[in-house]
Amino acid sequence: MTEKKRIFQVKNRNSLNIDRIAFFGRTYAEYMDMFDLDESLLRQGQILDCPAGASSFAAEAHKLGINVTACDILYDLTSDELMEKGKKDLQHVFEKFDEVTHLYVWKYYKDKDGVMALRSRALEIFANDFPVGSKEGRYVQAEMPYLPFSDRTFSLVLSSNLLFLYGDRLDFDFHVACIKELLRVCSGEVRMFPLIGLDFKPYPYLDDILSSLDSDGIKVEIVEVPFEFQKGANRMLKLKVI
Ligand SMILES: C[S@@+](CC[C@H](N)C(=O)[O-])C[C@H]1O[C@@H](n2cnc3c(N)ncnc32)[C@H](O)[C@@H]1O
Repeated sequence: MTEKKRIFQVKNRNSLNIDRIAFFGRTYAEYMDMFDLDESLLRQGQILDCPAGASSFAAEAHKLGINVTACDILYDLTSDELMEKGKKDLQHVFEKFDEVTHLYVWKYYKDKDGVMALRSRALEIFANDFPVGSKEGRYVQAEMPYLPFSDRTFSLVLSSNLLFLYGDRLDFDFHVACIKELLRVCSGEVRMFPLIGLDFKPYPYLDDILSSLDSDGIKVEIVEVPFEFQKGANRMLKLKVI
């Protein structure tokens, strides 16, 4: 084997090498842990999940009488199209996942089947709720960094598994613009998770992003959460609008 090829293989085993931003989702229970939420906080006002992907957080929360709006760039597709895209992306990610299972912590989930089952469950609950939820305005198509909401609409804004995670293909300016937009529509807190990339390394420009935000009126905290799947991804960013 040539030296070049060997280096490439080593590199592969330290990163989840997926070729797309996956249309993926997590369940309500996973969101509760990823963002260290409690139900009383969720009942304090209107919540935005952006990008929500194929998460069932909004659908499950709605059943509990909690007010969640979910946004994603792909919500102009039909429920069937989203289901198909979600299934394809699940398959792609889990094929690549086999190369890097050693980089995950097997505590929250027991094994690959357990993770897949939850991702599929989230996708199914989401797709079933999507047609009615769209008519009710609970699912809104939006392309970040532009959100079709007035200033300070939401008391809590949740943003997971896009910014920072896909820092290898989304540039610095996009990150800054998106975070400013999430803050614009928020009157309380923006929570973001995880703070590491698909290479399992901390997002390298987090400090630069934080210093580019108008520090007046925003309290920044990095907080440990009771959830870790990617090794080292057990902290969230909390931006409090004060
Ligand atoms: C990996 S999913 C994360 C979904 C969910 N937050 C979670 O943690 O499971 C990433 C999502 O970002 C969406 N997305 C990518 N670029 C976007 C953009 N510019 N604006 C809004 N959504 C975007 C994709 O369609 C995809 O559904």
